[in-house]
Amino acid sequence: MICVLLLASGAAWESQALESLSGAPDVVVLKRCVDVDDLLASAGTGQAHVVVLSLDAPGLDASAVAHLRRHAVRPVAVVPDPAHGETVARAGRLDIATLVPVAGLASLAEAVTSVEDLGDTRIRDELDVQPPEPSASGTHRVVAVWGPAGAPGRTTVATAVAAELARRRASTLLVDADPWAGSVSQHLGILEEVSGVLSAARLAGSGQLRERFTSVRRAVDEHLSVLTGLPRADRWVEVRAGAVTDILELAREQAHVVVDTGFGLEQDRGSDFGAAPARNTMTLESLDVADEVLVVGSADPVGLSRLARGLVELRELTGGLPVRVAVNRMRPTLGWSEKDIAGMVEGFARISGLHFLPDDRAAVDRALVGGRSLLEVGETALTRGMAGLVDAMFPATMAAAADRRTGLRRRRAGRARRR
Ligand SMILES: Nc1ncnc2c1ncn2[C@@H]1O[C@H](COP(=O)(O)OP(=O)(O)OP(=O)(O)O)[C@@H](O)[C@H]1O
Ligand SMILES: [Mg+2]
Repeated sequence: MICVLLLASGAAWESQALESLSGAPDVVVLKRCVDVDDLLASAGTGQAHVVVLSLDAPGLDASAVAHLRRHAVRPVAVVPDPAHGETVARAGRLDIATLVPVAGLASLAEAVTSVEDLGDTRIRDELDVQPPEPSASGTHRVVAVWGPAGAPGRTTVATAVAAELARRRASTLLVDADPWAGSVSQHLGILEEVSGVLSAARLAGSGQLRERFTSVRRAVDEHLSVLTGLPRADRWVEVRAGAVTDILELAREQAHVVVDTGFGLEQDRGSDFGAAPARNTMTLESLDVADEVLVVGSADPVGLSRLARGLVELRELTGGLPVRVAVNRMRPTLGWSEKDIAGMVEGFARISGLHFLPDDRAAVDRALVGGRSLLEVGETALTRGMAGLVDAMFPATMAAAADRRTGLRRRRAGRARRR
């Protein structure tokens, strides 16, 4: 089955292209992308093979096409006249070889299934893209969000991923298991009287966790609840070894679980001759239970060198299991391309997916100051990047996301018609 993305950018041929593709038995249209950022985020999920696009899409440049190819997404351009000199030159500059004339859209599916057949699969193999593992208990998954020291954005990403999952109507529990600087409740504006994780750890110790788990979770909305973190960093000693494992295993029976962890990975022995837990136990147990680890790194020079070291440390800890990496706070002023970073990151770990999240101080500040998740302050390239992460880690929720977008579009169109 060939999975196709579509970026028509408002061109009149979109519906004709959809018609041609939906008639082909071995082609499925994964998504109609709204713009180039949306396309790049969707390509990052590693699920698409081909994109059918317009050469006139704003922001479509050679680096965008290179990003597509890195994710083994082959471009097919629909053009008014493939023999037109200017069109040929533009396609050449973008490194797009397959051009389909608007007048020949009936054969689009054929062009899609025969495009650059095996040429680019090499890149996908190098990236070692694998479908996400099914969870140990049915359909729910535990994703541990980890990242090195220096506040690369673990909590921002964990919170946004959990909120996006909930927006797709998937029951989701966000767990703050950072033993150094728990901050999920501040990010979401939750005024906590009691710490969820401390209460749950106590219940796990007394064998009452299953019975009373609901009472220690804070509901944010119909689909999202939160287990808030430590109220003070020195309270980590109260979370005995094994408690976080018990909590996450139980949570997975009930919902998807996103865990915000701390940066430290050292397995320092606790004081008191091993009776007390070690400081990083909450993080280490989260990584151990997780079906997938999402590593967040910061795109600046210090952040990237910490990310590289962190990936090596993590590899030693997890025995080289593939990890997903999100490089956060990407910005043009740093002067390196996604390709430069991909080359660097792939040298340090087996990567199951590489994502780039733009720096967007304004959106993040609006969310933080309002105590709301990023999604609640409006759609931006950053929220689209987060949605791409969720598509990749929880592919079963993609249909709900698409339904919701179509619903929103229909409602908007309805409102516009009524005006
Ligand atoms: N994509 C982004 N664009 C702009 N600012 C960001 C972005 N991601 C995170 N930030 C900001 O970076 C800072 C650190 O983010 P966050 O608290 O998520 O990091 P962390 O890794 O959880 O850090 P800590 O070590 O404190 O747990 C925050 O001020 C956050 O608003
Ligand atoms: Mg944090």
